Amino acid sequence: MSQVVSYELHGNIGVISVNNPPVNALAQVVREGILNAVQQAQGDASEAIVLRCEGRTFIAGADITEFGKPPKSPGLPEVLSEIENSSKPVIAAIHGTALGGGFEVTLACHYRCAIASARVGLPEVNLGLLPGAGGTQRVPRIAGVKAALDMITSGKPVPAPKAKEMGLIDEIVEGDDLQAAAISYAGELLNAGAPLKRVRDITIDPESIEPGFFESARKNLAKRARGQIAQDRIVSCIEAAVNLPMDEGLQRERELFSELVTSPESAAMRHIFFAERQAAKIKDLPKDTAQRPINKVAIIGGGTMGGGIAMCFANVDIPVVMVEINDDALERGLGIIRKNYSITVKKGKMSEEHMNSRLELISGTTDYADISDVDLVIEAVFENLDLKKEIFAKLDATCKQGAILATNTSYQDVDAIANATQRPEDVLGLHFFSPANVMKLLEVVRGEKTADDVLATSMAIGKKIGKICALSRVCYGFIGNRMLSGYGREAQMLLLDGCTPTQVDSTLEKFGMAMGPLAMGDLAGLDVGYKARQSRTDLPDDPKLFRMGTVLVEMDRLGQKTGAGYYKYDPETRARLADPEVEALIKEEAAKLDIEQREISEEEILQRCFYPLINEGALILEEGIAQRPSDIDVVYVYGYAFPVAKGGPMFYADQVGLKNVYDKICEFRDRYGEDYWKPAPLLKELAEKGSSFAEWAAEQA
Ligand code: CAA
Repeated sequence: MSQVVSYELHGNIGVISVNNPPVNALAQVVREGILNAVQQAQGDASEAIVLRCEGRTFIAGADITEFGKPPKSPGLPEVLSEIENSSKPVIAAIHGTALGGGFEVTLACHYRCAIASARVGLPEVNLGLLPGAGGTQRVPRIAGVKAALDMITSGKPVPAPKAKEMGLIDEIVEGDDLQAAAISYAGELLNAGAPLKRVRDITIDPESIEPGFFESARKNLAKRARGQIAQDRIVSCIEAAVNLPMDEGLQRERELFSELVTSPESAAMRHIFFAERQAAKIKDLPKDTAQRPINKVAIIGGGTMGGGIAMCFANVDIPVVMVEINDDALERGLGIIRKNYSITVKKGKMSEEHMNSRLELISGTTDYADISDVDLVIEAVFENLDLKKEIFAKLDATCKQGAILATNTSYQDVDAIANATQRPEDVLGLHFFSPANVMKLLEVVRGEKTADDVLATSMAIGKKIGKICALSRVCYGFIGNRMLSGYGREAQMLLLDGCTPTQVDSTLEKFGMAMGPLAMGDLAGLDVGYKARQSRTDLPDDPKLFRMGTVLVEMDRLGQKTGAGYYKYDPETRARLADPEVEALIKEEAAKLDIEQREISEEEILQRCFYPLINEGALILEEGIAQRPSDIDVVYVYGYAFPVAKGGPMFYADQVGLKNVYDKICEFRDRYGEDYWKPAPLLKELAEKGSSFAEWAAEQA
């Protein structure tokens, strides 16, 4: 028996235990251990076999680190076939999360029991994959085609009680001792003479599927695929489950899994899976750094941002006090929160009772004295450094010792804000993205003097409220917004050079961005960037720079809110429509600036927009603003909707080849000047060495 899988007899029940921390992933030793144990049980005194796991969870899937490497025997299908063909019933006993290959192991078992808090699911789609060990064939046979399609294409785990309703779990067991409960359940099955139930024996009647079901599923999924192909292949597998015998269906699933596992999309998504977990780790912070308790939070400012942040804490049962300057502002702020929750209730995604219990956790005040006892304060007032400093001086005077004082600023100097207090070690930036209750990213901004336990606590509380955290040092715009500047600049320069807004945006949307930069400007309001630019002293004095954004604002075309910006918007449907007036205006402006317009290829649009991101990213790494290139990828995927199937800008750069990126930037420098295109020394160095950001990161680690 392998070290990570043990087998022992408990009376007439054989118990196989998997112990491969942290998540019992199905590494080769686990597969081999289970295979050997099932074989051993065939020849001993056992009458039934329980398969269970030690530690915090049942098997959470294939070992993702093995993908992309030569396969090692035994493969998972071989193990599952041994389980399914066992002459004695095999009963899976599930706690924690049975995910991916882990859930597929249970589906090959003859019975499945679980504790009520367990969850089961097939999240492979989040890695650009499909369940490769029978999941697409067995789930539709048990739960039906529609439920299987929803479960597998969404990747969302299902709580055990719901899974029982769907037929995916046979029994919910009670008590603290799952092994004992599973042995007892196995005994009951034996006493009842329960048959060896094999999912493969179920057939699906093709006549039961509505005509056109799969075509319309494909169409709907394609709308949100953003460059991913896994959803489409999942539909093909489920179609095979309906139309082909089990073994042929499994064969089809294998072929399509093999296609996906070698695809660039899946490599990128696996990169993001590990990048996301890595980003939460602070290189120079010991793992066991103490954390401060966070039991009560205050938010300064009840605007859209403050309200969204308050909801994040209430959603995990942490009481929040919202501070505003007067009763009217407070009532407005609390009203926005109530409205947001009631929209969720109306959509059927939350019960009224649940909403009320969350609202009860959010109170308001206009008096700082009422927040003297909170453990964490997050300031979310508008971007004015003097105002922020004033607020932090007040917080310093009011809040208890040990309270963490955070600013949600997007651009201001966190150190200057920290120095407005007598306790700069308690101050940091917690930069949420709008809408704060929805967006996954949290930039944790480390000030010069921020204490280690403040950082460790912030990373942990970020995870608790469901955010993906990435650490940034202090600089203008931190990681994300600092990099964004060149992206937005080039989108506008491309217009003067000959593109239409539609051409720029649709090229980037085809690449997988959720929304092109010009449409995004219209959504955010073109006046926002306009005002931000006016307060900047570091921008070159060049009439071409952000020209169209400026012209449109001065015409009062502020974007969606005024019904027109780079585009016009249908007043009824709010659909974005190309506007010939803007296209003519761009031509006029280009002529005024003596710019000869030309045809621009999609390739150039991508290079002009993305290479500034990559170049700034390289500077950010050299300056130590970001810890790793993969942290930058996490920021862009979760904060700026960079397509996960491309793995983030730094991963994408490695795929393009840093030499290619560098050479192109040099070409643009020669064409457009050093003000805009100045290759970062790190990019130059890596390009000349034929290296990549990933290799550089490995050396740094
Ligand atoms: N393979 C390898 N490592 C894994 C892993 C996996 N399937 N799942 C988690 N890990 C690692 C993480 O990288 C992390 O490592 P570090 O501590 O070094 O950072 C560690 O286990 C703990 O993971 P989390 O921080 O994510 O822990 P959590 O408690 O927050 O979440 C979890 C636990 C819900 C299981 C989550 O880890 C998760 O969702 N894992 C992935 C599940 C998954 O995608 N399974 C499908 C795999 S593909 C497959 O199975 C294909 C197939 O059909 C055969």
